[in-house]
Amino acid sequence: MSNLIGPVISAEAALRVTDLRTYFPVRSKGLFPKTVGQVKAVDGVSFSVQPGQTLGLVGESGCGKSTTGRSVLRLVEPTSGRIEFDGLDVTEMSSKEMVPIRRKAAMIFQDPYNALNPRHTVGAIIGAPFAVQGVKPPGGVRKAVQELMERVGLNPEHYNRYPAEFSGGQRQRIGIARAVALKPKFIVCDEPVSALDVSIQAQVINLLRDLQDDFGIAYLFIAHDLAVVRQISHHVAVMYLGQVMELATREDLYSRPLHPYTHALLSAIPIPDPRAQRQREHIMLSGDLPSPAAPPLGCVFHTRCFQAQDICAVEKPEIIEFEPGHKVACHFPIVEFLGTAPITGPDPGLTKQTGAAGEDRGSNDLIREIGTDYGAAPNTPIDPGPAIWR
Ligand SMILES: Nc1ncnc2c1ncn2[C@@H]1O[C@H](COP(=O)(O)OP(=O)(O)OP(=O)(O)O)[C@@H](O)[C@H]1O
Ligand code: SF4
Ligand SMILES: [Mg+2]
Repeated sequence: MSNLIGPVISAEAALRVTDLRTYFPVRSKGLFPKTVGQVKAVDGVSFSVQPGQTLGLVGESGCGKSTTGRSVLRLVEPTSGRIEFDGLDVTEMSSKEMVPIRRKAAMIFQDPYNALNPRHTVGAIIGAPFAVQGVKPPGGVRKAVQELMERVGLNPEHYNRYPAEFSGGQRQRIGIARAVALKPKFIVCDEPVSALDVSIQAQVINLLRDLQDDFGIAYLFIAHDLAVVRQISHHVAVMYLGQVMELATREDLYSRPLHPYTHALLSAIPIPDPRAQRQREHIMLSGDLPSPAAPPLGCVFHTRCFQAQDICAVEKPEIIEFEPGHKVACHFPIVEFLGTAPITGPDPGLTKQTGAAGEDRGSNDLIREIGTDYGAAPNTPIDPGPAIWR
């Protein structure tokens, strides 16, 4: 069993996941299909998220981020492992038993165009969690929805409009309003800004941070981009082929990465200063992500690792606490400076969150810091949102 990894483990963790595995069957074609293999989308992942904090989950397309997020909410059935919300083990709960739990947990989806039912008004979409859960807010649902609309920066007078009448950023605000309607303790944000323009990304991240401050929500923030994840995360987990390769505080991960894969990801983040950008060490990973239906033996990263040695192909490195609070799954962690890590120093966004001295930064500051190159947004199939509350 994997070590339990993550931010400080305590009984009060908003979410605690232990050795989570989600395998999808691979079936043969033909009239009588048989199970001929398994896609190991999530393969022994453990972490926890504290109330009011954000765990960023990053990795390449197909590494299992969304499946992790959906599994912890039981939107897909995990194969094994343990999931606890607020100290309560929900792993084996029936759909009926899960209903009250779903008030505590919500999801924000990547694609604001597909995540909202185009035939429903904004009022009906944001009000859906109240209806599904049978919650009667004081003053009525309409009043509660309009307050939520105002809170997320939408005009409450647009209550009867349809999603098509809103921009991408506004639609994501609708999705966020729906997610926070029942004041959940935990939200899975699955690539919530990947489909948005850079300027809008910063605004949405600011909104998520503000809501976290107000309601003490814990986020599992999924993204393929380390620069975006840095803006909101207190801790960051780097995932590769269904497994967590490294997990650390945001500060440690970006300034002292240990895993070769993390170094490679960091080296790909563009720096706005052209001179500094030229001096950076760039690590090009060879080959494609192997199939999670046939993951490499030993270290799953060994087929692409520039540090790999013979042992890596035969012996899987367990995730260990290399330094206090800094976990890594590698036989040969990189401790010397490679010049790949582009970002050091405090992040003003988190200064704001933790309430320490520091000014509240506006969207434009964030835009400058995030940069402009986010790479291609992955195409993830989108669930209809309201399923989460059923
Ligand atoms: N319902 C499913 N049935 C079979 N395989 C699946 C299913 N859902 C996901 N997978 C596979 O599991 C692996 C992980 O997929 P997942 O969507 O979790 O990755 P991801 O990291 O979120 O990728 P992206 O960044 O593209 O969104 C992929 O190989 C994917 O094809
Ligand atoms: S265990 Fe070996 S192959 Fe895996 S990341 Fe470390 S050095 Fe690379
Ligand atoms: Mg995904």
